[in-house]
Amino acid sequence: MDLETVMEAARDASEKAYAPYSNFHVGAAILAADGTIHAGCNVENASYGLAICAERNAATAMVLAKPENREIELVAVFSPDASPCFPCGACRQVLREFGCKEVVVEESSGLRRYPFEEILPHSFGPEALE
Ligand code: THU
Repeated sequence: MDLETVMEAARDASEKAYAPYSNFHVGAAILAADGTIHAGCNVENASYGLAICAERNAATAMVLAKPENREIELVAVFSPDASPCFPCGACRQVLREFGCKEVVVEESSGLRRYPFEEILPHSFGPEALE
């Protein structure tokens, strides 16, 4: 799967962000291990603390779409309001749950991929509970 296609899905999702409070729009697109793409945008709330990030909404969409195989190959994150836009700490942990291998962001020089281990080193995951 072409990385640009995944980032395009993240860009499209960022246009649907509901962010009237922060005015910070984010889109995320998960490329699952089977090649399917699952997108999400951030959704804010008048009760500010209830905002949900784009990455977690993308993970939720993947879980709903794929009950039998929930492995994440990579996630692309885009914001028209910050370049590059990296996933927040909470989202890194949620992506980790499904074995995300890479994070892709858009930098001034173009798309850049980061190994997940660099984004969330020494992480805690489901194996620890086996
Ligand atoms: N946000 C995301 O959607 N993803 C991130 O990785 C960083 C932050 C959202 C949450 C909130 O709606 C807005 O950006 C400002 O924090």
